[in-house]
Amino acid sequence: MTKGWVKPEYYECGTEQGFGITVLHEEADHTLLVEVIAWLPGRGVRPHDHQTWGIVVGLDGRETNVNWLRRDDGSKPGYADIYANHEVVVEPGDIAVFMPDDIHSVRNDGESTTLSLHIYGRSLAHTARSEFDPEAKTVKPCPRRERKAA
Ligand SMILES: [Fe+2]
Repeated sequence: MTKGWVKPEYYECGTEQGFGITVLHEEADHTLLVEVIAWLPGRGVRPHDHQTWGIVVGLDGRETNVNWLRRDDGSKPGYADIYANHEVVVEPGDIAVFMPDDIHSVRNDGESTTLSLHIYGRSLAHTARSEFDPEAKTVKPCPRRERKAA
């Protein structure tokens, strides 16, 4: 796979967030987002949904994607009972796809920073998406991520 377009700064991560997002393209009306995400070793992100379709292409390293399913019917505000259903390791050239309500978490179990390309059908800063805590069985609005322009 040709990766000549990947710049070294795409690997920069915020140590607090644990990952780094570089926006390659966003439509003015927020209907398309293309970004690269780098994940620090041993770090990850809590289960969340996207409220739009998404495509992830592995570029460097191995990223473990965990897909979660929901037991409850979503009728109790702030409550969500989710469980890990299966894991997929995204390696360079692998493609993972998400539907709007799919819930996933990501972690980097390796010893170097990973990188992947993400394409979404809407800017994630402009979707009402959710983040889940499987232990506390809670759901809340997804925190705003730090993003930088390419
Ligand atoms: Fe995600």
